[in-house]
Amino acid sequence: MATLKGTKIIVVGGSCGIGFGVAKAAPESGAEVVISGRSGEKLQAAEKALAGAGRVTGIAADMTDEADVLSLFEKTGAFDHLVATAGTPPPNYAIGETDMDFVRGFIDSKLTGAVMLAKHAVRTLKPGGSMTFTSGINKDRPPVPGGSVVSAVAGSFSYFARALALELAPTRVNVVSPGWVDTQMWDEIVGEAKAGFFAQMAPRLPAGRIATPADVAPAYLYLMQSAFTTGETLHIDGGQRLV
Ligand SMILES: NC(=O)c1ccc[n+]([C@@H]2O[C@H](COP(=O)([O-])OP(=O)(O)OC[C@H]3O[C@@H](n4cnc5c(N)ncnc54)[C@H](OP(=O)(O)O)[C@@H]3O)[C@@H](O)[C@H]2O)c1
Repeated sequence: MATLKGTKIIVVGGSCGIGFGVAKAAPESGAEVVISGRSGEKLQAAEKALAGAGRVTGIAADMTDEADVLSLFEKTGAFDHLVATAGTPPPNYAIGETDMDFVRGFIDSKLTGAVMLAKHAVRTLKPGGSMTFTSGINKDRPPVPGGSVVSAVAGSFSYFARALALELAPTRVNVVSPGWVDTQMWDEIVGEAKAGFFAQMAPRLPAGRIATPADVAPAYLYLMQSAFTTGETLHIDGGQRLV
């Protein structure tokens, strides 16, 4: 396994949730981390929370805005690994009720944003580096009704990574596919119903509980360090695909 000691990692989506988990775990391996997200306030709060963890700096950028993405990479300079966890809550309309503006916004933030990150990362990503994107359990266990768009978008990441892994070789490109993780995204989706929802779902999972960001972060660390792994999708879902 390659070491993360002395490397620089950009975590787009690192101000909260799964990305914050990666930004917390990576410095323990000796990496310097740049976290990015749209909200300067969230970034400041994350920097403060990670103050004891090592070198963590926030740079505000919206990954749906090409000028912002360019500026993020210019400010960061040469770096070793890109991790993208950013995304907004998925649409959950039955297909006949689809709000096309919401769907376009979701695809923009999740898939087009990832393409834009890859487009501009290649200029300053050092040889031997990697990109890791994030898909999710909804491609394997789509909510019914209303899961078709999120399933299609999440599913597309495996193919994006496989093709990009060939195009950018020897740069490695991989995907983490998380199951349900207790993050702020769920507060946005189900609000106060979150605790009850999780209590109902947890016993149905082989792992017997909902994940925390700390459960998922090691998958990103592994993919950054595993010099022989590329074009791969790593499922960290507590066995959810089996039930
Ligand atoms: N949580 C789960 O159960 C779960 C399961 C499967 C897959 N996933 C996927 O995992 C990813 C992370 O989810 P999460 O639960 O960690 O979400 P989260 O807690 O809501 O965190 C999302 C992060 O992305 C940033 N972000 C959102 N839109 C952005 C944009 N346009 N440009 C830059 N940064 C942006 C947010 O900061 P700002 O708001 O300040 O921009 C925040 O830092 C998502 O793509 C989600 O689809 C999550």
